[in-house]
Amino acid sequence: MFAAAKQAFDNAYAPYSNFPVGAAVLTPEGEIYAGCNVENAAYPQGACAEAGAIAAMALSARRRIAEVLVIGGGAGLCTPCGGCRQRLREFACAETLIHVAGPEGVRASFTLAELLPHSFGPENLGSSK
Ligand code: THU
Repeated sequence: MFAAAKQAFDNAYAPYSNFPVGAAVLTPEGEIYAGCNVENAAYPQGACAEAGAIAAMALSARRRIAEVLVIGGGAGLCTPCGGCRQRLREFACAETLIHVAGPEGVRASFTLAELLPHSFGPENLGSSK
């Protein structure tokens, strides 16, 4: 997962923030899908790395996320933004591990429930997916 996320990080298109992000999701089937942030001159149109990884996974008809790894720059922890926590929530469960890394390696790990407590998900709509 780290290698896939690092390759995505290296290919990120982030000319406005200069903050590249790479993400990788692991499915229960053992496949890894990666994404990078893709910014836009019309700033709100930019997309997060996690959204790209999820889109790649969905394209392969996979619907469950077993584990996540996100690589960001800077000295701090590049935890998924609020919107991406909810995006991950759609396909993950409370115990799903989200590893937060820098280019040098993993810095911290959280469960989805730690990052998005008392979350709203498909079950709230009576959906079993
Ligand atoms: N970014 C991500 O790709 N994922 C996150 O969860 C945090 C933020 C991107 C969006 C933007 O291109 C850059 O990081 C700075 O916010």
